[in-house]
Amino acid sequence: MIKLKERTIVITGASDGIGRAAATHLKSSGANVIITGRSREKTKAVAEELKVPYYIADYSSLAEVRQLGSDLKGDYSTIDVLANNAGGIMGSQRTVTDDGYDRAIQVNHLAGFLLTNILLDTLCASKASVINTSSAAQQFSGLTDLSDLKLDIGYSSMGAYGKSKLMNVLFTKELHRRYNSLGISAAAFHPGVVRTNFGEEFGGRTKLLYSGPIKYVLKTPEKGADTLIWLATSQPGKDWIPGEYYSKRHIKRPNRQAEDAENAKILWEASSKATGLP
Ligand SMILES: NC(=O)c1ccc[n+]([C@@H]2O[C@H](COP(=O)([O-])OP(=O)(O)OC[C@H]3O[C@@H](n4cnc5c(N)ncnc54)[C@H](OP(=O)(O)O)[C@@H]3O)[C@@H](O)[C@H]2O)c1
Repeated sequence: MIKLKERTIVITGASDGIGRAAATHLKSSGANVIITGRSREKTKAVAEELKVPYYIADYSSLAEVRQLGSDLKGDYSTIDVLANNAGGIMGSQRTVTDDGYDRAIQVNHLAGFLLTNILLDTLCASKASVINTSSAAQQFSGLTDLSDLKLDIGYSSMGAYGKSKLMNVLFTKELHRRYNSLGISAAAFHPGVVRTNFGEEFGGRTKLLYSGPIKYVLKTPEKGADTLIWLATSQPGKDWIPGEYYSKRHIKRPNRQAEDAENAKILWEASSKATGLP
């Protein structure tokens, strides 16, 4: 187990749900936790409760993600863990962001991709772990065109969600391939089916599952945060293997498309272009 008092841990999407539960646990264990959220009111309330610094960015805007990245880069010379956790399932109508991308793809994949890239120097210098919250939903989705970040054809909310979560795994694999030798240890994980605000925007049966009486059989946010906390507090290369997809602290085989290194490379290049990275 790593000494948490010396660890600086940035958790995105920590104003609620799994991110908030992880932040609460890690802070009470002594880590220097920094949280981000979309809602100023909610994020500020959690930050005040935990006595941690907070930052606001709505991932539907890449400009806000760039500002977040630049602020974090300026404020912290060391980041030991970056947990890209913000996201969720979007409403049933397809929405395109002002940046021109499908909102699920932008919020769940492009934003975390961009934030990580902005922080690369700090993350490499800190020998950081980058933990990406994916989902088992990636198993049931396929990407016919890996460079399609707009999803103009055949849109479904669940389909877009699954694709974005498959992108989280492909991003993890390519981040590992490119930057493991430079110090970064990356992992993706599925938190389980967790009783959070997830599904709120989507409505229908998903909302019913997450907010109706059945919610009591779902995992608590604290249990859902377990694998994130374990990855953040244990040693990559010793306790877990970088570049892998985890569920319940164990490596799990992801969607077959995620096993193909060429797919990960194509997505990385398309995402770099989409976010204006060199
Ligand atoms: N719950 C599950 O069963 C489940 C299963 C598999 C994977 N996941 C994944 O787990 C992660 C956390 O979700 P959760 O279940 O904890 O849901 P949640 O309670 O709704 O929390 C989602 C977090 O993401 C933030 N967020 C959402 N949209 C954002 C945006 N446009 N810009 C910036 N931040 C945004 C929210 O910020 P605000 O609260 O400030 O709006 C909140 O902090 C997500 O990536 C989700 O896909 C969840």
